[in-house]
Amino acid sequence: MKCDLLVVSAAQLITAPEGEGPLLGADLDRPLLIEDGAVACAAGGIAAVGRTSEVLARYPESEAARVIDARGLLLAPGFVDCHTHLPFAGTREMEFDARARGESYASIAERGGGIRASVRHLRAASEESLAALVLKRLERLLAQGTTTVEAKSGYGLSLEEERKQLRALKRAAESSPVEIVPTFLGAHEVPDEYRARREGYVDLLVGTMIPAIAKERLARYCDVFCDRGVFTVEESRRILTQARASGLGLKLHADELADVGAAALAAELHAASADHLLCASPRGLRAMAHAGVVAVLLPGTAFTLGLPYANARIMVEMGLPVALATDFNPGTTLCSSMSMAMTLAVTQMKLTPAEAWMASTANAACAVGEGGRLGRIQAGHQADLALFAGGDYRHVPYHYAEEHARIVVKRGAVAMDRGGDSGCA
Ligand code: NIG
Ligand code: FE
Repeated sequence: MKCDLLVVSAAQLITAPEGEGPLLGADLDRPLLIEDGAVACAAGGIAAVGRTSEVLARYPESEAARVIDARGLLLAPGFVDCHTHLPFAGTREMEFDARARGESYASIAERGGGIRASVRHLRAASEESLAALVLKRLERLLAQGTTTVEAKSGYGLSLEEERKQLRALKRAAESSPVEIVPTFLGAHEVPDEYRARREGYVDLLVGTMIPAIAKERLARYCDVFCDRGVFTVEESRRILTQARASGLGLKLHADELADVGAAALAAELHAASADHLLCASPRGLRAMAHAGVVAVLLPGTAFTLGLPYANARIMVEMGLPVALATDFNPGTTLCSSMSMAMTLAVTQMKLTPAEAWMASTANAACAVGEGGRLGRIQAGHQADLALFAGGDYRHVPYHYAEEHARIVVKRGAVAMDRGGDSGCA
């Protein structure tokens, strides 16, 4: 049969076993591994996957429009980075310095730095310049093997400024193969102009901002920073209930700085995901497991802030669907590398390399409601693939602070090709 693209002779192919739900418990450590792997792509999707001889028997090279010889390379699903703050402007080196001198993230935020500093930067930037920044970042993501990225607003904190962020995302996405899942995070912080009357800002979110953003289809999810010093559980419940009524999916920045009961709220509302969870209580986590809420873990944040990591092992044992993401943002994680997130997950959170891969692909796709389309190499899924140097899935997290992606395929077409070099260590 004819196909658009054949990838053959990969040293190893890694993917979740067929399905569309997240991998839970011991299954997270049981990926499908195929030696001498191959994939046939047609019409943007995956037509066949298996050993090279099996795939070639149905899709001969002579009938393929393009063939990639993947000898020596690892063939994996493109990463789904399911939690980032991609459309930001400006960076915060002074805070990095202050933390090195012992000041905490919360204390910097209280004195007007933190998210509010990024709000000042964002408000001073034009939509065009923001779109250009996002586009550049998308290029970097693609070069690192990320084919889908969830991206949050949350540095505008007014209808116009949040809209500007989400429109910049939309614009950039039109010029990039990387797919964006946009999230409205107007409840990231209380803006300066509402500090003395915070209920006024919650009213604005609920009465005006959320309905408008949803109506304009600028976001698919609504997120809330539900934590000590930010939005309370009651405020978050109100905001997310409106978001659901407006047709948006739900996400939470939950219990990152303190256990405020955000994990339990995520369970109560059947949110798609609750993210961070560094301080979440076992009770909150159990409720999440029961409700099937994906736990998105962001080890880059604990790494940057020097905080204890989320307890990934307990979460896996509880049967929580665990996903990994970068949290790429100018405050707590100025790093967009999914392979670095995997390295930290393995070395600091004690996930196995196989678990880290599944959490960064199949389970991450579930965190953005796309488990049936993305995150797996299986017939019928979108053909989003990444080929990595090293030829062994363990090599990518093991050989850290390196760029491993050699070729990236999005919707069945080559979107990035670094050329002949398949070498590494
Ligand atoms: O996910 N925790 C809240 N939001 C971001 C940090 C945002 C910032 O500091 O700019 C996070 O870590
Ligand atoms: Fe975040």
